[in-house]
Amino acid sequence: MTKPDIDASKLTITLTQTPKELLDQSELKFGKYFTDHMLCIKYTEENGWEAPEIKPYGPLAIDPAAFALNYSVQAFEGTKAYRAADGTINLFRPEKNLQRLASSSQRIMLPEFDQEQFLECIKELVKVDQRFVPNDYGYSMYVRPNFIGTEPNLNLVYSREALLYVYLSPVGPYFPRTVKLFANAIEARAWPGGVGSFKLGGNYAPSMRPAMDVVSKGYDQILWLLGDDHYVTEVGTMNFFIFWVNADGEKELVTAPLDGIILPGVTRDSLLALARQWGEFKVSERKITMPEVVTALEEGRVLEAFGAGTACIVCSVSEVFYEGQNLAIPVDPTDPDAVYGPLTKRLRAELLDIQYAKTPSPWSVPL
Ligand code: COI
Repeated sequence: MTKPDIDASKLTITLTQTPKELLDQSELKFGKYFTDHMLCIKYTEENGWEAPEIKPYGPLAIDPAAFALNYSVQAFEGTKAYRAADGTINLFRPEKNLQRLASSSQRIMLPEFDQEQFLECIKELVKVDQRFVPNDYGYSMYVRPNFIGTEPNLNLVYSREALLYVYLSPVGPYFPRTVKLFANAIEARAWPGGVGSFKLGGNYAPSMRPAMDVVSKGYDQILWLLGDDHYVTEVGTMNFFIFWVNADGEKELVTAPLDGIILPGVTRDSLLALARQWGEFKVSERKITMPEVVTALEEGRVLEAFGAGTACIVCSVSEVFYEGQNLAIPVDPTDPDAVYGPLTKRLRAELLDIQYAKTPSPWSVPL
């Protein structure tokens, strides 16, 4: 007999008795403040998915021997809800995040789930806490689905119990200015045959020590290089793009290909689609190496570089430290104080206009 899947019609809602005060938008640091409610959906192999519950935000009861706590059986997502000028709220391409969550969780043997029904439950959660969705461009409500293995069992098999839960965090800009990257070719974020294309907490924890090392040197993030040829992969919190005149003399926007090493970012995909629609320059998903970037910089062929991700949106990269040298990346040659280069600014603006429903788009999904 088939076991029950997620069923949004069975959702129950228990409202908090102690609603939080809303913070002023200027106080919204990324990921430090959470709303009143969360969505929890339990699974057991024996009985399938239980009825979804929205309940007051608070600690989870989890067995100390759970798979998630011992063996990092945890996958997560990040998507956002945006308030349009008319007050309505939209999610941005949430189905892409749920497809990726399904792909990440299958890699760690977490159970399948009905993505459409799960999305209906997420929409209900955002509706319940909609008063927390900020108003202005650059501010939004970050939606963090988490999927964990909860069975207490130390055997290295797979978790036959799981919890899918979602909480919300009203957020401001992740990087309010241009970012400085430190290219790391010694440690690797991901490697061929590894799990870099899955959004697993286990990919992020080992990046913290190297990342904090570079923060202590005054950089914002690591640009992860891979292999002897110093393949430019991604940043970890965001995918990396370069806009240059390539070695053949063509204007080209390039980002690393989805070769199993790169996280398939929803912002990455959206920017590639926008740039391809314009049809004004070559748009490539291909491998480039750091020595190629250095040569292009020396020859004055690098026009802009930027990172893109749900949390960071789109932010210009102004510097990369590589092999003992600080390489300055042009942001906007016409404006020394510019935070975004011309292409970065245009892509960011078109993306935000869609996210905040100023430009109608099928990517905007109303609650
Ligand atoms: C996101 O952009 O949603 C992320 O997951 C990045 C996060 C690690 C800060």
